[in-house]
Amino acid sequence: MTTPKYKIDSFEEYNKEYKRSIENPIEFWDDIANDFTWHKKWDTTYESDFSKAKTQWFIGGKLNITENCIDRHLTEKGEQAAIIFEPNNPNDPNQIITYNQLHKRVCEFANVLVNKGIKKGDRICIYMGMIPELAIAVLACARIGAIHSVIFGGFSAKSIADRVNDAEANCIITCDAANRGNKTIPLKSVVDEALTECSTVETVLVYNHLNTKIQMKEGRDHDWVKTVTEVVESRNSDFPAVSMDSEDPLFILYTSGSTGKPKGVVHSTAGYMVWANYTFVNVFQYQEGQTHFCTADIGWITGHSYIIYGPLSAGATTLMFEGIPTWPDAGRFWEITDKYSVDILYTAPTAIRSLMTFGDAPISEKNLDTLKVLGTVGEPINEEAWQWYKGKIGHGEVPIVDTWWQTETGGILISNLAGITPEKPTFATLPLPGVQPALMDENGNELIGNDVSGNLCIKFPWPGMIRTTYGDHDRCLDTYFSAYPDKYFTGDGCLRDENGFYRITGRVDDVLNVSGHRIGTAELENAINMHPNVVESAIIGYPHDIKGQGIYAYVIHIGEQDQETIKKEILGYVTQHIGPIAKPDKIQIVSGLPKTRSGKIMRRILRKIAEGEFQNIGDTSTLLNPEIVDDIINGRI
Ligand code: PRX
Repeated sequence: MTTPKYKIDSFEEYNKEYKRSIENPIEFWDDIANDFTWHKKWDTTYESDFSKAKTQWFIGGKLNITENCIDRHLTEKGEQAAIIFEPNNPNDPNQIITYNQLHKRVCEFANVLVNKGIKKGDRICIYMGMIPELAIAVLACARIGAIHSVIFGGFSAKSIADRVNDAEANCIITCDAANRGNKTIPLKSVVDEALTECSTVETVLVYNHLNTKIQMKEGRDHDWVKTVTEVVESRNSDFPAVSMDSEDPLFILYTSGSTGKPKGVVHSTAGYMVWANYTFVNVFQYQEGQTHFCTADIGWITGHSYIIYGPLSAGATTLMFEGIPTWPDAGRFWEITDKYSVDILYTAPTAIRSLMTFGDAPISEKNLDTLKVLGTVGEPINEEAWQWYKGKIGHGEVPIVDTWWQTETGGILISNLAGITPEKPTFATLPLPGVQPALMDENGNELIGNDVSGNLCIKFPWPGMIRTTYGDHDRCLDTYFSAYPDKYFTGDGCLRDENGFYRITGRVDDVLNVSGHRIGTAELENAINMHPNVVESAIIGYPHDIKGQGIYAYVIHIGEQDQETIKKEILGYVTQHIGPIAKPDKIQIVSGLPKTRSGKIMRRILRKIAEGEFQNIGDTSTLLNPEIVDDIINGRI
């Protein structure tokens, strides 16, 4: 694949393309989609009705995304690295998987899936560490037309069970264990525990990554390598890609919202593919032969779009790193960058802030001179972190793209294009072609002109957008398309400066963003309230130097135990019901929560207390129980 003709080369071209995408979206998207491999071209470019949360793209088209991510590169790039795997332990062997090898391994595993009776449209959960087999599993699902649902390796057995049951998955792909810094995470045993609550799963495929001791259930559990060997012996190891409809679901990815239950965001095949590719090529200004290192986990949308589908559809070399940024030392990202001559580095503000605290020593002997583009994602980046990233990692020269998007958007919606459109610290800057943002005031009116701030909506469909929430379309309609008629509501607050540049200011709903991870307060409160001695709880976010937001839990507890025991038990409940990522940083045991006369918790007051702003607490006279406020202030942690 040569450089696609839709790659934007200048600010003038961006302006021209943006205008064209608004004035003639059909021609604009037809031109781009024409560059992909189709079994049959589409009949209609798009149809959309936001009032029903219904949008379709490239209607009537037939394709398989894996042919676009693998097969079409084989003639020219068969021997080029598709995936570089860097293990957790620097001394363990790495792996370079060429496009030819990736093709072979995906086809073999696709054969395994079919051999186990998995069919097009079946849902398959994948719960693995960041190893190449995870990418292979994802692509093999896509090759046979099964819908993958990747579950982040830090989620608990209960979270797995909820996701398996919601999707009625019939297969789980996992590995024995994963490395994470100096810890070994036992994944298979967590799956075993989850499966005691799931009745739909018939097949578990297990990759033996670390040779740890695991239980294998006869008839249900199968060893990855053994099944591959069997299938290769009995069948051809090729696997012709199944022809998918443009709108056939490609994957489900669960994400937290303002209600207690995570929702399964569904992405479709063609629109998602075009969006992941178009945004990858343009935002990162990808050039032929470059190595892209996205430090996210494939358990999140960033890993789906910018480790797997975006880079591979562009024929890039994508780097998968199993470990964490600070182990064995805080120079790990920089060492990997030098080792593989990384061109594009894409990470999260929380990682940058954490690495900043180690000072210059971890960077001092690193070259970092192959870097052409730096990216950030997941949360607002503060100016100090931006300047450090630019100065220390980018030698003051490398462009930084601040990419704003969400699980629901499939790919980046607002970002500068590296070195092409202007960058501005802490600003995501300008919408990509095809993206029409709208800022809304508290009365539901769109704010026109510059120098305004409001709630961020998108008022026109784009190919990569969410199609539905799995098994419950009304939830999709209610959550995203009801707050403002004819608009997709993002849940984020945003300002547009005097030059029309966008700056995301954070969530305006009950969703926290902790180290770039979305955590629904209701979901966390539910987990804490499961404790038999907890009467009620309220979760609040507060500013945290490294994580962006920390989690402050106010908990009403009845019982005789000492505070330390209670807190330990509460953390245990969170770990058990969600996973360690949702553990509160602070737990305050309180005798009551401030409530309105209608019984609603006054979160505004709790937020002020958590932030240490007692002087500015505001009017408490309308509370049902104003006396509780002083008690809470006095017991603040
Ligand atoms: O609040 C925004 C924040 O992350 C949310 C989406 O989270 P999730 O679906 O987990 O996807 C994260 C990776 C795309 C958004 O609603 N967010 C994401 N990127 C940025 C951001 N906030 C500010 N600036 C960003 N660049």
